[in-house]
Amino acid sequence: MDEQKMEQTLVLIKPDALKNSVTGFILSQLSEYHTGSRFAATKIVNVNKLLAEEHYIEHVEKPFFPALLEYITGKVHYPADAWKRRVIAIVYQGPNALHTIRQMAGPTNPHKARDERPGCLRALGTVVPIYDDEGKMISDRLDNLIHASANHEDAEREIKLWFIPHDIPPLMRGYDTEVCQTHYYYKDGQLFTHYEPGSIFLLAPGDVAWKTDLEILQNHTPETPAQGGLNKVVAKYLINRTAQEQ
Ligand code: RTP
Ligand code: MG
Repeated sequence: MDEQKMEQTLVLIKPDALKNSVTGFILSQLSEYHTGSRFAATKIVNVNKLLAEEHYIEHVEKPFFPALLEYITGKVHYPADAWKRRVIAIVYQGPNALHTIRQMAGPTNPHKARDERPGCLRALGTVVPIYDDEGKMISDRLDNLIHASANHEDAEREIKLWFIPHDIPPLMRGYDTEVCQTHYYYKDGQLFTHYEPGSIFLLAPGDVAWKTDLEILQNHTPETPAQGGLNKVVAKYLINRTAQEQ
């Protein structure tokens, strides 16, 4: 498959879109008829904190980061009904998919979206002020309905963060895979190659994994787990395994 046909992007239909029942409209706008792209994978995800932090890691120092985590994990839109906290994660594939779907989403800020690009998806969003403990306004929470990868590098990082190869039909996988040769288990930030009581099973010999993930697991050292990228490998294997903490 040539590179242009194979261009992939990660789309997230965020909790505000689910809450406001605009999922169908968004999916329709993203259809092959409108975008020339097609589904390569999709899943309903109860977003855990680890996954949320890894997805938006570039914003970790921003004043709006804590509010962004509350938003993407669904706590803002479903404060009482934890079981309703979901996003729909989708891999789209098609010619120029990155640019086409970013255009369809529109500007990050829904007010700007309404001013500058009426008709784009994010024009349906909301801006909510964020206050500090003293009641001073420090930033805005931008409830903008949809995430779309910004470029090739982000798309690769994000697709590998949300999806394991088995979620994507083999002929639609955009990145190198490798067969795992080891057992891997995870518990409290630690990686094990044998079962430890209370640990969560990640991978077994024979499983197909992203090649770059296996490199991270093979090179993992207990002294510097975060630097080694363990969280970004583990986060997707934890998806929908246990209920997120309240
Ligand atoms: P996304 O990653 O969600 O597709 O959005 P984006 O590329 O258009 O914007 P990005 O800069 O990556 O921001 C990620 C999300 O953080 C929130 N945000 N708030 N208050 C602010 O100035 C601000 N800037 C960004 C938004 O919810 C945005 O979608
Ligand atoms: Mg972004």
